[in-house]
Amino acid sequence: MVIQGYPNPGDGLRLHLNENTGGCSPRVLEAIRHVRPADVSTYPSYRDAVLATARHFGVDPDWVLLTNGLDEGILMTAVGHIARARVCDAENIIPLPAFDPYPNSTAAVGATAVRVPPGPDFAFPTEAVIGAVTPRTRMIFLNTPNNPTGQLIPIADLARISRAAPDAVVLVDEAYIEFGGTSFIPEMASFPNVLLGRTFSKAYGLAGLRVGVLIGQPQVLDPVRAVTLPFNINGVALAALGAALSDSEFLPRYAAQVHESRERLYAACRRLGLQYWPSAANYVLVRVGDAAPFVQALAAGQIHVRDRSKDPATPGCIRMTAGIVEHTGRAIEALESAVAVRQGR
Ligand SMILES: Cc1ncc(COP(=O)(O)O)c(C=O)c1O
Repeated sequence: MVIQGYPNPGDGLRLHLNENTGGCSPRVLEAIRHVRPADVSTYPSYRDAVLATARHFGVDPDWVLLTNGLDEGILMTAVGHIARARVCDAENIIPLPAFDPYPNSTAAVGATAVRVPPGPDFAFPTEAVIGAVTPRTRMIFLNTPNNPTGQLIPIADLARISRAAPDAVVLVDEAYIEFGGTSFIPEMASFPNVLLGRTFSKAYGLAGLRVGVLIGQPQVLDPVRAVTLPFNINGVALAALGAALSDSEFLPRYAAQVHESRERLYAACRRLGLQYWPSAANYVLVRVGDAAPFVQALAAGQIHVRDRSKDPATPGCIRMTAGIVEHTGRAIEALESAVAVRQGR
């Protein structure tokens, strides 16, 4: 049987999908408890949620499109700007390593993926991305911080690339920006070809409810709006979003845990002689060598991490979520045992 979605690893600590390991704001659960029958029996109204989201990001409400997770925003950008426009020889530039929905959405609309490898130590290949732009380029995916490396793309480089491809849609994916780095949003008035993606799955802990947002000037956002289904987010998720945005204390508290967890993971990697890359996100990429048995050993101890070794761009690597410090402590103990077993100690 083929099961939809990702396999559930079962019991234990989920450090494999960059989720919020601390859950969500108590206000979100409170809002869900107060959902009324009419919130369930009627089609949802988006007005309040769009206005609150626009206020939160400091942009005009006409620049906001709520999506069923940012995943939907990625696919609908390709549908709106390539399939709907009937572009048949489109090229989408995808710097590596990349989040799977970029090549998947590219393939879904019949476009060609132009993959650009990273520089040493995953340095962002700005010149090579600019060099890959052609008259056929329709989309460029810029993910900052990058999943899975945690590396940021400098704001000046986002700007240079966007200017170098004025006829393409530049999708700046900031799914993890709340954990480190500076958002491109304040620059966006000067960039009519940039769509910026954010999600409430990660920092806000709403992954199970599926809420994301695309932000952009109307000329680049409206073709996506035109293909997005009218009731793409359910009423319970909308109630949760309002509550999450109203809790200004939840995010800084969780971000502080993430920062501390990252530092502890770095220190553990140094002690264990494992290569790692300092990350601006809520996960750390670690090179362990033969990753599959390593991931299995951790899973046997109920610690689930992501095996990234099958991606040729991240050979020998695993990716571990850095969330609540106590969880990270358990993950580090499991990491230490797995290294000890491998060394025959
Ligand atoms: C880089 C990146 N972009 C977008 C997403 C999509 O997030 P969601 O669909 O949960 O909003 C993810 C989720 O893992 C991600 O890693």
